[in-house]
Amino acid sequence: MNKQSRRYFIKDKLWKGFLLTFFSPFSSMAKMDHLSHEKIDVLNADGESIDWKKVKKQFTLTTSRKHFNTASIGPSPLKVQETTIATIHRINKHAIEDHKVVEQTRIQLAKFINANPEQLALTRNATEGMNNIARSIELKRGDEVIITSEEHIGGSAPWITLQNEIGIKVIVIDILGKENKAIDLIKSSITNQTKVISISHITCTTGAILPIKRIIKLCKKHQIQSVIDGTQALGQISVNLKQLQPDFYIASCHKWLFGPKGTGILYLNQEFLNNTPPLFAGAYTDQKFNLKKGIYEYKSHASRYEYGTINAPILSGVGASVDFIDQIGIHHIENRGRQLAQRFRKKIAQNKNITILTP
Ligand SMILES: Cc1ncc(COP(=O)(O)O)c(C=O)c1O
Repeated sequence: MNKQSRRYFIKDKLWKGFLLTFFSPFSSMAKMDHLSHEKIDVLNADGESIDWKKVKKQFTLTTSRKHFNTASIGPSPLKVQETTIATIHRINKHAIEDHKVVEQTRIQLAKFINANPEQLALTRNATEGMNNIARSIELKRGDEVIITSEEHIGGSAPWITLQNEIGIKVIVIDILGKENKAIDLIKSSITNQTKVISISHITCTTGAILPIKRIIKLCKKHQIQSVIDGTQALGQISVNLKQLQPDFYIASCHKWLFGPKGTGILYLNQEFLNNTPPLFAGAYTDQKFNLKKGIYEYKSHASRYEYGTINAPILSGVGASVDFIDQIGIHHIENRGRQLAQRFRKKIAQNKNITILTP
């Protein structure tokens, strides 16, 4: 299978899709105009272990295909869809933007990844976060940025464009099949010119979990900025930024987190926030603005990356997606993911025509 093509659907039982059209769970949504916070029932009778059949029922995926989640696009569970739609109704009823939704969602997300909310911005996707950082870190001709061969275009193109435009040097380390040597390969590529190491927490090509804690430590030792692309990690495994202490952590919320499409996070270190002007300026980016006097002072809060009018409905949906994951428990999800992956791996390993790249 083409490694960039990661949508594994197997067609069967087409008639079920037909039935779904008539018994759609969306039919009640149009009536809702408030946020619903009631808990979903995902537990077995023992009140502790997870009933995965109940979890599965929260999704509105067509039953005419088998869905193998590889988080190219994560489907949103019903609660996330309902919350998003309820917010559309609410803001249009009152003709408001509802900026306070951003704050609520930021606090939830910050708690979820154990980060300071003041250092966490909500973005449209990982690509936006990565471009923002690549263009905000002051780099000049000859500076070196280390990335791996397994970075997504959204995590690597922002650096390659700077190579083309201003002459930084992007060092691409080939880690395919050598993921367990990633740290040594990175170490031996560091020079006096290395300014940034930008790598995935989990690679999108093979699902390898990279040793980012050690890589971040290495960066600190050499005064290199660590940029972690956590897009395949957020919602799939537990992420703890106070433990990891990266300079930047970027992710989309519409993959393993199951949030509405077009949502992401950008975590920034405080020193950068204090000293680096925002790439985009406008409403919500300033702490002082006076047009007549020509005064503009940017906020040191990460919310300055949420410039202009925001999309409250999808951000309220992200809040609901964190609720959803929290109700199941990220550790349960992580274990379940491993179990399913191992079961799948065992089965396909019997097929001699298949080479397994995932370490
Ligand atoms: C590791 C990684 N980084 C970045 C991206 C880009 O995400 P987005 O399109 O949401 O910006 C993806 C998408 O699959 C990804 O897997």
